[in-house]
Amino acid sequence: MEVKQLHATFTKNFIKNLIRRKNPDEFLEQAKDNGLQKTLNAFDLIILGVGAIIGSGIFAVVGIAAAGGGESSLGAGPALIVSMVVAAIACIFSAFCYSEFSTMIPVAGGAYTYTFATLGEFAAWMVGWILMLEYAVGFIAVAVAWSNHFMQFIKGFSHCLPACVVNPPIWLVSDYNSACKVVSPDTIPSIFGIHICLNIPAFLISLLITFILTRGMKDSKLMANVMVFIKLAVIALFVFAGAFFVKPENWTPFAPNGFEGVFMGAFIIFFAYIGFDALATTAEECKNPQKDLPIGIIGSLLVTTVVYVAVALVLTGMIKTSSAVPSEFLKAPMAYLMTLHNQNWIAGLISIGSLAGLTSVLLVLELAATRILYAMSRDNFLPSVFQKLNPKTQVPVILTWIVGIVCIIGTITLDLNVAAELCNFGTFTSFIIVCVAVLILRKTEPDRPRPFKVPFSPWFPLLGILCCGGLMIYSMQFLTTSVLLFPVWVGCGILIYLHYGYIKNRKAEIKTNPTEQIKE
Ligand code: ALA
Repeated sequence: MEVKQLHATFTKNFIKNLIRRKNPDEFLEQAKDNGLQKTLNAFDLIILGVGAIIGSGIFAVVGIAAAGGGESSLGAGPALIVSMVVAAIACIFSAFCYSEFSTMIPVAGGAYTYTFATLGEFAAWMVGWILMLEYAVGFIAVAVAWSNHFMQFIKGFSHCLPACVVNPPIWLVSDYNSACKVVSPDTIPSIFGIHICLNIPAFLISLLITFILTRGMKDSKLMANVMVFIKLAVIALFVFAGAFFVKPENWTPFAPNGFEGVFMGAFIIFFAYIGFDALATTAEECKNPQKDLPIGIIGSLLVTTVVYVAVALVLTGMIKTSSAVPSEFLKAPMAYLMTLHNQNWIAGLISIGSLAGLTSVLLVLELAATRILYAMSRDNFLPSVFQKLNPKTQVPVILTWIVGIVCIIGTITLDLNVAAELCNFGTFTSFIIVCVAVLILRKTEPDRPRPFKVPFSPWFPLLGILCCGGLMIYSMQFLTTSVLLFPVWVGCGILIYLHYGYIKNRKAEIKTNPTEQIKE
């Protein structure tokens, strides 16, 4: 690019370029000959949705949301079912907005694409960048949780496995910060003064998920189906077996921490609903996105809500959550309650179910991350090698491996809490932006065909903004490192855009319309 032209792009038309919107028709045109295989129907989407949603939230975090007794337990107590419904309501407004967009612009980028069509180039890049917090950093959080569950599971075989497998050195199953909480840093090996930690279980599961994804949608779908079946079967077993141990007196007092406890529970359990939005990123792989995506997005959220409410009822009926609960309940409540009632074999199956649950969440999160980066590369924000599809599997293999390797590095550098908090930040931001984008596009393009429309607009999108914005602001008072890391992530995004995406887009414009640019 000539120096004169480059200079012009950074001065005269800078703002114009930042807010350059892409017409939805352009996205549709681009997506027509993408090469991604169209294999998903409504049922597959519900399975993928349930696969993405039900994971560590219901198998682990739910204990913290339920604990409503004692000084530091500010959860909901038996009112956990109300918290579950409140969190589901906060999500359903965004789910409606995702459905409207995904049927109107059924292309791979999800919230990133919707932002490009409404708020322009810079906002789109930033949303894509922030979505990596939800999907890639979320993947890291769930991979670390998977590793913790796996090590717990392995302990059940201590009588037949060697001690070095059951109780390995902490630096082989953890990140550096978490390891330092358990042992002195001097006991962690170092090379050239740099301490080395390897989370081997997280490394292996990340490698396996990446490998499955590179084999194509058919294999990924099969794996998601198996995992979803296992986790739903295990949850059903818990609900039916647990029902026999429910004592109605455990449900009183119903809300030991009042409204505050209910909202605290809703905030904590919100993490358990994250994932339904990932379905929007598979739009180009759906057979009939206009009809099936809303069924998939809203259907999987409804199925999950029913499952969660049933679990909440049994869980809070089996133990008094209005008084102090043991620490095992906070880590793995379902398995703990079954052990408490001497149902050890059910507890073992629940551990297997939780590993299956986390595995399917990992699968869909990495899938969503790759599809967004794929769409961003198509829009000149990232190197074009990211769009390269394997001719046989029709999967962006290079991109999938890059995401997999970045996630593996993440599992040895980020601790679970920071990764989960950053994931929540990314999710809240993307939900809010999608709700705003629906309102904008209703104004700017009122006549564009909308196979699915958010009911009661503008109220539902506004309520979505209010619920997610409220939860995000409320959560800030409890967060630590992530409150500092979030602006750093945003700052890095701005720098990368200015040094790469902005320039690449202008070069592309000059290529397609040289005379226009010289006038500038
Ligand atoms: N909803 C997902 C889970 O609970 C993130 O693991």
